Amino acid sequence: MSAPGAWTPDSWRQKPARQLPEYDDPERLRQVEQTLAGFPPLVFAGECRALEARLAEVCAGRAFLLQGGDCAEAFAEFNANKIRDTLRVLLQMAVVLTFAAGMPVVKVGRMAGQFAKPRSEPVERRGEVTLPSYRGDMVNGLDFDAEARRPDPERQIQAYMQAAATLNLLRAFTEGGYASLTRVHQWTLGFVEDSPQGERYRDLADRIGEALAFMEACGITDRNTPQIRQTEFYTSHECLLLGFEQALTRIDSTTGRWYDTSAHFLWIGDRTRQLDGAHVEFCRGIANPIGIKAGPSMTPDELLRLCDRLNPHNLPGRLTVISRMGAEGVQKHLPPLIRAAVREGRQLVWSCDPMHGNTIRLNNGYKTRPFERILAEVRHFFAIHRAEGTHAGGIHIEMTGQDVTECTGGAQAISEASLGDRYHTHCDPRLNAQQSLELAFLMAEALKEERAALRAAS
Ligand code: PEP
Ligand code: CO
Repeated sequence: MSAPGAWTPDSWRQKPARQLPEYDDPERLRQVEQTLAGFPPLVFAGECRALEARLAEVCAGRAFLLQGGDCAEAFAEFNANKIRDTLRVLLQMAVVLTFAAGMPVVKVGRMAGQFAKPRSEPVERRGEVTLPSYRGDMVNGLDFDAEARRPDPERQIQAYMQAAATLNLLRAFTEGGYASLTRVHQWTLGFVEDSPQGERYRDLADRIGEALAFMEACGITDRNTPQIRQTEFYTSHECLLLGFEQALTRIDSTTGRWYDTSAHFLWIGDRTRQLDGAHVEFCRGIANPIGIKAGPSMTPDELLRLCDRLNPHNLPGRLTVISRMGAEGVQKHLPPLIRAAVREGRQLVWSCDPMHGNTIRLNNGYKTRPFERILAEVRHFFAIHRAEGTHAGGIHIEMTGQDVTECTGGAQAISEASLGDRYHTHCDPRLNAQQSLELAFLMAEALKEERAALRAAS
């Protein structure tokens, strides 16, 4: 392993970088990056440190990480309802997990910046035509024509603006009363109300209502207790388009450390986690909490070396491993990683992405994810951590508050034939609100069991 040299916000430019678009006007790209470097930060260093402290609690087994949102945010689907609906499903999931498992839930959206996508193929072929692959709205357009697919630096400015407005609304919702626990009933989306999950949620919300009424009678109300009225909510996205991330990277005057102010939490994708690659180089120097996606090809040795590189002081909360092994691969590939980390005493948050290892392409052309396989990977994830004596620390999902038909199965029994009804994703298939809630109930049970087992052992 080569020893890392001095870090600067642009030292990644000396390293091999995968998955970066090729721009045909480097001068225009440079100007855009310069413009971005003059824009205000989207998040603040103190908030990133608060998140790191929360994640340290996850690391210690005392909290749970819930991270979710679109696979790819889109310029064309930018409106208040969409942001609100994703948030309300995340709030519902968090309440289910907190109430059933009695554990604080750290809420992180794949929101306000999730605009760049890694792709398995650099080009897409349709019939005789070959064009560059779609790489997310901050790089190029989804339409299959040469002009749309040309990477355009200008899109980064629009992504910044959309992220700023999204974050502004999220802050208003989470601090301004919408996320108050006194409103748990109102978070349910109309189309979920009459479903089995809606009913189950209503039961739970009734019980929370009773608990709040009891506390109010004791003098603890949403007016004198901010924890009831407000919630902490953090943003995250894949740290992929490094020029953009560099432009948003600033020195924090309080600590003198560098923070990437484009989001609170950044993760390195499974395709860009090479130890000596540009993405690891960039992330090792920023002080935000960092995630690493770990697919089936991640070896225990690679994981340990990434820990050395990204978290040399072994700080709890700094590093989250987001495993995405697939329902069939998780039992084989995850335990060796956990054992190596435990043996070497590495402080890690273990989170499960049950989406990216369970994608299939059907004969009718749709990319989907069978809900049973998603649940199966999550069940295995909890069982493996139980067996290893480690904390199943979190979940990372692609989901939406819209009533989409993108993943088959679930209580609505979405069939392969009905995927076309409301298949709206710009990239990967997402869980809809009902499927997300169903998953939350399943995890709440598993967390409750984990806690009971821990109590019995102590
Ligand atoms: C993603 O999270 O959208 C993604 C591309 O994941 P991975 O890097 O795990 O494939
Ligand atoms: Co995805």
